[in-house]
Amino acid sequence: MKVISVINQKGGVGKTTISVNLVAALAKAGRHVALIDLDVQALASNWLKPDATAQSHKLFDAKETPQLEHLDPAHLLSILASGQELYSYLHTDAIELYVSRVRKLAEHVLVFADHAADFGAISLAGLYAADVVLVPVALDVLSTQGTMKLLDTLERVAIQRGKAFEHILFIPNRLRDNARIPRRLLDALRDQYNGRVLTPIRENAALAEFPLKNETVATPGVNGKAQDDFHALAALLWEKIK
Ligand SMILES: Nc1ncnc2c1ncn2[C@@H]1O[C@H](COP(=O)(O)OP(=O)(O)O)[C@@H](O)[C@H]1O
Ligand SMILES: [Mg+2]
Repeated sequence: MKVISVINQKGGVGKTTISVNLVAALAKAGRHVALIDLDVQALASNWLKPDATAQSHKLFDAKETPQLEHLDPAHLLSILASGQELYSYLHTDAIELYVSRVRKLAEHVLVFADHAADFGAISLAGLYAADVVLVPVALDVLSTQGTMKLLDTLERVAIQRGKAFEHILFIPNRLRDNARIPRRLLDALRDQYNGRVLTPIRENAALAEFPLKNETVATPGVNGKAQDDFHALAALLWEKIK
């Protein structure tokens, strides 16, 4: 199955929020998914499994074997949590090892990686292993401007690794129902990247509170517009990449 990088050099655009809820929505729809946390801040790890052991750094280390931690009884959703240990691999030359480990994992599950905003060796490794790149774009002026720069970076990485990405897809985030600027920016994004813009995630205070209670859109009893948005996004993404 595919390996998917959720990445944007800009911080705070929704990478972690989208990674966590998208894998949860896909697992709820019966897909086998694993999330690799590639951010030393470990926010996705803490969100999904506060007591998880850091594992993702082991993908870079020949002497260690990372173990998926399952998050549900049916074992549809699992995580490789991160931690400060990732710092030890910032100047790694172990990209090749990472890529082969992740490709092996992808024989059985759809693999997502939640990237940090900084663009170091860890992120480069993540991209070397990726088939598909998902770019969350917050619908504000500076975030959408930053997106152009990201595309340049991705092009360089594709050349460097000798292989184009199968898809580079955008996820508009923080759409506000009655606000003019986000709507205009969404239209502009759609005009410019026709067919590559997935369904938007709306601005939603409930979504921002999920991490407090370790909830996701797939948590039983949780419903509302966040669930609708991620359900639609998961279905469309699955159609594009399956
Ligand atoms: N659609 C949304 N509605 C409300 N808050 C959001 C939304 N998307 C993200 N946020 C909030 O914005 C902040 C940054 O999101 P985060 O997922 O951590 O971004 P990143 O991983 O790109 O740094 C978080 O506080 C998060 O709860
Ligand atoms: Mg994040």
